[in-house]
Amino acid sequence: MARKAIGIDIGGTGIKGALVDTKQGELLSSRIKVETPAGGEPEEIASTVKDIVAQLTNRSDRPIGICFPAVVQNGVTRSAANVSKRWIGLDAAKLFTQTLHTKIQILNDADAAGVAETRYGAGKGQKGLVIMTTLGTGIGTALIHNGELIPNAELGHLEIDGLDYETKASFAAKEREGLSFVQWADRLQRYYSELERLLTPNLFIVGGGVSKSHKEFLPLLKLKTPIVPAKLKNAAGIIGAAAVVTKEF
Ligand code: BGC
Repeated sequence: MARKAIGIDIGGTGIKGALVDTKQGELLSSRIKVETPAGGEPEEIASTVKDIVAQLTNRSDRPIGICFPAVVQNGVTRSAANVSKRWIGLDAAKLFTQTLHTKIQILNDADAAGVAETRYGAGKGQKGLVIMTTLGTGIGTALIHNGELIPNAELGHLEIDGLDYETKASFAAKEREGLSFVQWADRLQRYYSELERLLTPNLFIVGGGVSKSHKEFLPLLKLKTPIVPAKLKNAAGIIGAAAVVTKEF
C-alpha cells in the first residue's frame, strides 16, 4: 500500500507541493506551484504552505516534509538564500508545526533532491559517495554515502580562484553573463574537478531546471567520476522531503 506524505519545496521564487507515494517515490497528485510571497518572510511563507496543503488534502494528519534553501540544523534554519534574512537562526520546525498542526520535517533543498535521486532516481543502488548538485540560482549540493545523507554540505560555496564558485558556475551565472554552454562548461569543469580532487566521489548527479539540457554540457566535461543527469526533474525536492518525513530514507 502507498505510504503517503506531502512534500513541499520552498524556493526564492516559487513554493511547490504535492502528495507523494513515498514507497515508490511518485507523485499522487498534480504539482501545485504558487509564487513565494515578496520578501520571503517566515510567517507569510508558512501561511502559503498551509494554503497549498489545504488544496492537497482534507486530512489534517498527513506528515509534511519541507525543503528549504538554507542550512537546516535540528529544525533551525541557519542561513537563507533568496528569502528573508529573518530565517537565519529561526526555529523553522516550530513555526511550521504551529502553523500546520501535524508531523513535519524540514531539511535543505539540495539534501532533499539528493535523497530522492539516491532512493528512487539516478543514484538508486549506488554504493560509496554520491554527490548531488543542483544548478540553479545558486549551486546546491548533497552528500550521500552508502545511501545515508550527510546533511548540509554547502559545497556550492567552494572557494576557487578566490571566488565563491556558485557566483561563477550556477545556471544564474550562465544566464547573467550570457555564456554559451561551451563557455559555461569550462567553469563546470573547474568546479567538478575540484569536487573530485577533494572528495573522490563514485557518482555525480546533476539536477536543477537546466539538467533537461544536459546533452549540451555534460558530454563536454572530462572527469574520472561518472556524471549523470537527475531523473526526478522538478519533483525531486518534493519527493525527497516527503521521503524523509515518512522515514523512507
Ligand atoms: C544555498 C544552499 C542551497 C542552494 C540551492 C545555496 O546558495 O547556500 O543552502 O541548497 O543555494 O538552493
